[in-house]
Amino acid sequence: MARLAHISDVHITASRLGMRLRDWWTKRPASWLNLRLFGRGRAFRYADQVLEVWREEIVARGIDRVIFSGDATSMGFPSELQRAADLLGATRGLPGIAVPGNHDYGTRKAAASGDFERCFEPWLDGQRIEDHTYPFAQKIGDVWFIGLNSAKGNVWYWDASGRVGETQLERLRKLLADLPAGPRIIVTHYPLFLADGKPEHRAHGLRDAAAVIKVAAEGGVKLWLHGHRHGFYWFENLPGVPFAMICAGSGTQSGLWSYLEYDLEGTKIQGRRRIYDADKNAFQDADGFSVRLD
Ligand SMILES: [Fe+2]
Ligand SMILES: [Fe+2]
Repeated sequence: MARLAHISDVHITASRLGMRLRDWWTKRPASWLNLRLFGRGRAFRYADQVLEVWREEIVARGIDRVIFSGDATSMGFPSELQRAADLLGATRGLPGIAVPGNHDYGTRKAAASGDFERCFEPWLDGQRIEDHTYPFAQKIGDVWFIGLNSAKGNVWYWDASGRVGETQLERLRKLLADLPAGPRIIVTHYPLFLADGKPEHRAHGLRDAAAVIKVAAEGGVKLWLHGHRHGFYWFENLPGVPFAMICAGSGTQSGLWSYLEYDLEGTKIQGRRRIYDADKNAFQDADGFSVRLD
């Protein structure tokens, strides 16, 4: 049996961001205003404290690997990425698998900079196609976990959409076909559906979801693990999607703060949600669920 912790959307920031003059011509000033003046920062003001408790929890509960599905930061500044990698344990020898979220690729320049990949390098280890960063695969027990990048740098403040892209999708097709036998699980930032089963709005959703679903289904994917939405929800399947989907929700947003613990035994996952209790400064068991991977 392997025990995994799935956490997402921790949105860490830093007191000294390192904003440069050139950032003023991007969407960063609007993001900054949203963070500092319009409440976003307030919603995540206990994020550091919650992650301190979470790291103790990971050790105490015997977690074998962390699954992180993106939005480590608020704006994708290197100062924030470094703090987030440290608070999540990626720089402390904790084994994990990580993918970026739209906030980690704050701008097109930030997406192309490789800052996320540098800070989370220990969690990007795995089998890949040539030297392309994404997708990559890690084996846990008999199961392949595949880190797929669905985030992209966006120009406009209102644009929080994602895309896997044709070239990465082609590599995903090849990786799914080439990997040795065993169930395949996708780890990525974007959901395929909202909690009500409807597709996400174009400005907030995965633009090429239909093409990705097709490749994943043909490649034997059994489960889609994601974040981006800050509340927890899951589906055993939906019409046209022959695999389960689990949204971890936000690990640190006040009131929603939780992560998921997965006990992986053969081809069965026994999941439970662990919710942070601010009064006790500790996590506690909540909903349980199970997913079959065969
Ligand atoms: Fe998020
Ligand atoms: Fe997101």
